[in-house]
Amino acid sequence: MEVRVVQHPLVDHKLTLLRNKLTPQPVFRQLVDELVTLLAYEATFGVRVTEVTIDTPVSRTLGTRLADPAPLVVPILRAGLGMLDGMLRLVPTAEVGFLGMIRDEETLEPMTYAERLPQDLSGRQCYVLDPMLATGGSLGGAVQFLVDRGADDITCVCLLAAPEGIERLQNLLADLKVPCRLVVSAVDEQLNEQGYIVPGLGDAGDRLYGLAQ
Ligand code: PRP
Ligand code: URA
Repeated sequence: MEVRVVQHPLVDHKLTLLRNKLTPQPVFRQLVDELVTLLAYEATFGVRVTEVTIDTPVSRTLGTRLADPAPLVVPILRAGLGMLDGMLRLVPTAEVGFLGMIRDEETLEPMTYAERLPQDLSGRQCYVLDPMLATGGSLGGAVQFLVDRGADDITCVCLLAAPEGIERLQNLLADLKVPCRLVVSAVDEQLNEQGYIVPGLGDAGDRLYGLAQ
């Protein structure tokens, strides 16, 4: 798996504001949206295109358009939903599938509680949105789900990753043999005993949407 840590002063600036526990919720949401748009530019570097002939007001010329089938964007509920608009801003013709996953706070293992995805993903380029790659259980589960449906090219877009989660994803992908890349704004130091990324930004879902009881 190729890991691409996006290096740009605006990414660092926005990420620092996100990390700050004093950043209010509406500002946090806005910053996630802005940051994802920057990550999406990098993440779509390899989006499949096809050649088209068009007429400008001056002459005929060759150009490019996104290939069929359209890319599939998959936000992992709940927190990944906060990344969707930022991604669709750059790829408005993408289709969207949903996966709902929740991590058990004791075992740290993910549970899938919702799914709305095409049955057949063969030939689809998929973009998975999840702000936090911590233990890697959730993102790994999502990638496995897409591969089982036939996805043959997967890009994971995350705000933050822990080395432990990257390693788990690498191991999974070594077995799956499907091209996959991770685009992320930073790789942090480690996980703490509760499975939170350190220094991280806390609970992404809670900071976006409040406490879900
Ligand atoms: C968070 C986050 C990731 C997951 C990462 O979701 O949004 O999906 O944890 O942890 P992992 O890499 O150890 O699996 P959470 O389960 O808190 O649900 P939420 O998005 O509804 O808040
Ligand atoms: N999920 C989060 O929202 N934050 C973390 O640091 C780890 C998992």
